[in-house]
Amino acid sequence: MTAQNKIHSSADARRLARKRLPWMVFDYIDGAAGEGRGEALGRSEIQAIRLNPRILSDVSHRDLSVEVFDHQANCPFGISPMGMCNLSAPSADLMLARAAAKHQCPLGVSTVSSTSLEKIIEVAEGHAWFQLYYSGDGSSVKSLIERAKASGYRTLVVTLDVPEVGRRPRELRRGFKMPFKIGVSQFIDFAVHPRWSISTLLNGKPEMANFGGEHGSFDRTESRAGATWDHLKKIREQWQGNLVVKGVLNVEDAQQLKAVGVDAIQVSSHGGRQLESVPPPILMLREIRKALGPKYPLFFDSGIRSGEDIVKAYAMGADFVFLGRPVLFAMAAAGEAGLTKLWSVLEDETSITLAQLGKTSMPGPSSDVLWELA
Ligand SMILES: Cc1cc2nc3c(=O)[nH]c(=O)nc-3n(C[C@H](O)[C@H](O)[C@H](O)COP(=O)(O)O)c2cc1C
Repeated sequence: MTAQNKIHSSADARRLARKRLPWMVFDYIDGAAGEGRGEALGRSEIQAIRLNPRILSDVSHRDLSVEVFDHQANCPFGISPMGMCNLSAPSADLMLARAAAKHQCPLGVSTVSSTSLEKIIEVAEGHAWFQLYYSGDGSSVKSLIERAKASGYRTLVVTLDVPEVGRRPRELRRGFKMPFKIGVSQFIDFAVHPRWSISTLLNGKPEMANFGGEHGSFDRTESRAGATWDHLKKIREQWQGNLVVKGVLNVEDAQQLKAVGVDAIQVSSHGGRQLESVPPPILMLREIRKALGPKYPLFFDSGIRSGEDIVKAYAMGADFVFLGRPVLFAMAAAGEAGLTKLWSVLEDETSITLAQLGKTSMPGPSSDVLWELA
């Protein structure tokens, strides 16, 4: 049986990826802040939400499309920006770009993507949003924004939950660094995962493709602790397209972002990778939705693993939902075929969930899909 045929859930993709990836890469992707309790709590709060099944509503025609900014996306989820995706499989960035083009859904393109931001938006046929990290002294911000504009990006996502890179012990124990260094333990790790090592060597070691030469360098571990509301204001002045701030878990921050003219907020704990003791992002989504009213665009990521999770996030107040790790695991497990399979699994799960709930389209926060004890 081919590997993609073994993927019937995102958990299957993770299980298969775990066998194929070197431990260093698996732990970089799967790892979280501290002992991972924040990430686990975020997911268990999503799991704890109960849905309200209904009968006899004629749900034979179900529509998964949703509007994001001024665009109709053909499916209700997209891909969160992730650095060094090509570590999961050679050309992973381009597999994601092709999926974004096919489904007309946004793909987040990380500052530290392993394919250039220019190439990704071309292959994604415009369905890409550029994610910006504020650099330590702000120097690379201006040039990255100019490059994003010049190559046709219309949405800029500024990630603000990384004043310092979170401490992720699983990554640290494996000696993960970018660009990575191959010492004795990494050599052994790569040798016992030959399928990954040979294909990665044949395709060239993944690099931070937006840097090098005239574009200078990027230090992943550099401090961004000096960023203030004034820096955000400057970015707002420089960027006339849609501006999204990612990594928000506080109601007052959200209110201030709305007040300073940010177009949308991505409620996210960075997949639990930054602070172990974060509040569950799905509960903060509901709080922030209540505070900002029904119209302000809110996006969500962190811990989404299934179609039921996607429906729950919409019911808790999201206008669009993103996934991170599961797509990397699907590509590590079975390349582009694995990504295609996982995508269809998530679509099927979402559609079947709607049918169970008596709905024909993605629910909003005022719908009756959430079950609560009377
Ligand atoms: C391997 C990896 C790399 C990431 N790199 C970035 C990044 O460069 N920029 C960013 O804003 N978020 C980054 N994130 C966070 C994701 O955008 C997203 O918030 C998170 O993965 C969502 O949680 P999930 O993995 O549980 O779906 C990264 C996450 C992972 C797993």
